[in-house]
Amino acid sequence: MMMDWMNDYTAKRTTAADAVRAVRSGDRIYIQPSCATPEDLVRALLGRARELRDVEIIHMKTLGGADYSHPEYEGAFRVVALFIGDNVRDAVIDGRAEYMPIFLHEIEGLFESGECLLDFVFLQVSPPDKFGYMSLGVGVDCTLTAARQARYVIAEVNPNMPRTLGQSFLHVSEIDKIVEVNHPLPELHGEPASPVQVRIAKHVASLIPDEATLQLGIGAVPDAVLQCLTNHCNLGLHTEMFSDGVIPLIEKGVMTGAANPLHPGKLVAGFVLGTRHLFDFIDDNPLFEFRPIKYVNDPFVISQNRRMVAINSALQVDLTGQVCSDSIGTKPYSGFGGQVDFIRGAAHSEGGKPIIALPSTARRGTISRIAPMLDPGAGVVTSRADVHYVVTEHGIAYLHGKTLRQRAEALIRIADPAFREELTRSAYEFHYLRPSLVPVH
Ligand code: COA
Repeated sequence: MMMDWMNDYTAKRTTAADAVRAVRSGDRIYIQPSCATPEDLVRALLGRARELRDVEIIHMKTLGGADYSHPEYEGAFRVVALFIGDNVRDAVIDGRAEYMPIFLHEIEGLFESGECLLDFVFLQVSPPDKFGYMSLGVGVDCTLTAARQARYVIAEVNPNMPRTLGQSFLHVSEIDKIVEVNHPLPELHGEPASPVQVRIAKHVASLIPDEATLQLGIGAVPDAVLQCLTNHCNLGLHTEMFSDGVIPLIEKGVMTGAANPLHPGKLVAGFVLGTRHLFDFIDDNPLFEFRPIKYVNDPFVISQNRRMVAINSALQVDLTGQVCSDSIGTKPYSGFGGQVDFIRGAAHSEGGKPIIALPSTARRGTISRIAPMLDPGAGVVTSRADVHYVVTEHGIAYLHGKTLRQRAEALIRIADPAFREELTRSAYEFHYLRPSLVPVH
């Protein structure tokens, strides 16, 4: 049995250039995202640009260059972004690449239903264990499911990929071509939190009870929130992604997953975005249970956690509570990710709290993110019926079960003071407020 997979492994081993030779014009390629982005395979594919036409490359937020989205590759490659990272944003804004708004937990369904047939999956895995299983490591996300649906799977096998546990393995027999590599994984280094982010984090932390299960979006605010939780007890984690910020809480015994009724003693996630320190921390660590996103982000699954607190960010919130998180006006910026999956899951969890946390202003204080109306073309990610808590550095607005008047009042109170008068004027103009109901600041 053991020899079988070893022979299979040896037979499938080849170079990146040879592995991507099977790609044909018109094919669709899914690329593993985040810190697992298989850069050697991407480079090899670029080397074939002159022979290929209209190859669709579909992925969530990848790290690295994404050179296939550059103007010189137009015609050869066409990007479909399921979440827009920095590396493809200009291409999407220019119209050379496309953006698909979709709930993160529904992406794998596109592959499974055949609505989005995958010809190739490019991914990166750990070396096989003694039974021939290779871990998807830093990113199970939608990739495990994609690999099981694709016609052809090409894997970079990298000793630097941590062996994460859970539903995180592919067997050598499930891979078509193997390319051995030994490069460092791409890393994402967080920025230290700004004073505004620390103030937001303190308000958010005040909403988090002991034994809460946390979902943390990407960015400085979630990491700053974690730093405010060192005196909490028995926190859990059920999140599409996490970064280095959880490590100190785990080491201090604050984050244990012990109170989690769904996976007692486990921290559940779909992928990580972080540094080598984090990759080493999750390597072979039985505390972590990595699962495909279609499970992790299923709102029904999320809702089975007790005291589920979901913390996500936004670009703009209008006075009625509509939350724009994926575009700045008509310009696509990021994606739905798991925001709505977790907002809804947390809303239905016993003692759960869905939170949108954002700075009250943008562009060095010149623009209020609490706006009378969303900018023309802005995309609503979290609807005003889904929204519960909105938090800025100026406080907490609770909007669920509140009228438009109550929402406008609460949101104006947490707007930057320099914009409150203008927002109040708009609220009167739109009849959210009436002269007899002047809000008290
Ligand atoms: N008008 C104009 N510009 C705005 C703006 C507004 N209303 N709001 C933000 N911006 C600008 C900022 O100034 C910043 O520009 P800069 O980079 O030149 O400084 C840029 O847009 C990004 O804003 P910022 O608040 O720094 O973004 P972020 O990195 O904190 O990410 C989201 C915030 C909303 C984009 C991000 O959380 C996201 O994509 N969320 C949706 C998906 C999600 O929540 N998934 C769940 C977990 S991953």
